[in-house]
Amino acid sequence: MEQTLSVSEQTNYYLSLEEKYGAHNYHPLPVVLNKGEGVFVYDVDGKRYYDFLSGYSAVNQGHCHPKIVAALIEQAQELTLTSRAFYNNLLGEFEKMITNIFGFDKVLPMNTGVEAVETAIKLCRRWGYLVKGIEDNKAKIIVCSENFHGRTSTVISFSSDPASYSKFGPYTPGFEIIPYNNIEALANALQDKNVAGFLVEPIQGEAGVVVPTEGYLSKAKQLCEVHNVLFIADEIQTGLARTGKMLACDHENVHPDILILGKALSGGTLPVSAVLANDELMLTIKPGEHGSTYGGNPLACKVAMASLNALIDEKMAENAETLGQYFREKIEALNSPHIKLIRGKGLLNAIVVDHANREAAWDLCLQLKENGLLAKPTHGDKIRFAPPLVITKEQIDECVGIIAESLKVLD
Ligand SMILES: Cc1ncc(COP(=O)(O)O)c(C=O)c1O
Repeated sequence: MEQTLSVSEQTNYYLSLEEKYGAHNYHPLPVVLNKGEGVFVYDVDGKRYYDFLSGYSAVNQGHCHPKIVAALIEQAQELTLTSRAFYNNLLGEFEKMITNIFGFDKVLPMNTGVEAVETAIKLCRRWGYLVKGIEDNKAKIIVCSENFHGRTSTVISFSSDPASYSKFGPYTPGFEIIPYNNIEALANALQDKNVAGFLVEPIQGEAGVVVPTEGYLSKAKQLCEVHNVLFIADEIQTGLARTGKMLACDHENVHPDILILGKALSGGTLPVSAVLANDELMLTIKPGEHGSTYGGNPLACKVAMASLNALIDEKMAENAETLGQYFREKIEALNSPHIKLIRGKGLLNAIVVDHANREAAWDLCLQLKENGLLAKPTHGDKIRFAPPLVITKEQIDECVGIIAESLKVLD
């Protein structure tokens, strides 16, 4: 396989800085970005790329969305942090807006995605003890294999990926891993009276955009109801218009008991996450029992409201639905021997690369980069294609052309 890579001296300089002074906990593509606008990012040499990762779906609204950036700047000049020791004039407005949009009594704002997952776990256990009546310290949460819910020590305790958990033990107990997309396994696991919750990604993003069988989520929700178990949807990657609906759960009309949001809640500008639930759950946590210095800060609230408005006003879910369908059809029509399959919903898609060389997906991403499109392999042979939701049909056509051209590197 021939690769002709042009890595400029500038690029080399930045790569070497990170190599020398940064922890080696990532393996990025060798491209150094310094500007973003809509569906595009630019490297330090001024080369333009389509961004087909969108910050792992944090940049659904497009890079540097003007209204989100305006909200950020305006609020940064007024007030950025009060802590929750005092009230601020934006938290209540944000809480009202987000609970109305998603149909919950209450919201608990946090910062990163994994903090919201941790919050959901604590909330679920609290409910398990105080409302369901589970004996203290016996509550169990069911999760799925190949899950990705973040990187804290509790959350990696129930990962099935050795790269995430290996040599980071001892692990937090209280979780049971069952196969994803398997209703019988869930039905069996729910027989245990100590089960308080079922935590699930409506589509497994990091696992390579694994879409469950239609009906899985609604059946899982029904089963949870029968067993008095909370259905907890981690929509950090799938939510906020990415899959063609405001939530991926909406495809099956499932209303989770706990909804976890993050990433695109700020359009990629700063970490903002949120956990939504009704009073019966949310009010089990009393003052002083959970929190975060930055959670609910006025800057985040203002930006989150602008981010939600951008999704709704610009009909990004509708665009994701239409263009996602179109993109998958176009990729299928390529009939490439190197693409085993394309799967996804809306504009959250992945191809599985078919090639004898185990590095083929990485090599293809390097070639895509050369040809002006950035994407990143996940789990070896899968490449996620998730552009900002402001992409147009003409741009999709151009990107499919880039992908077709790049696939030749695998011939
Ligand atoms: C489904 C899901 N949950 C949780 C997380 C963790 O979010 P964060 O990296 O903001 O902690 C991610 C991040 O990729 C995710 O995709």
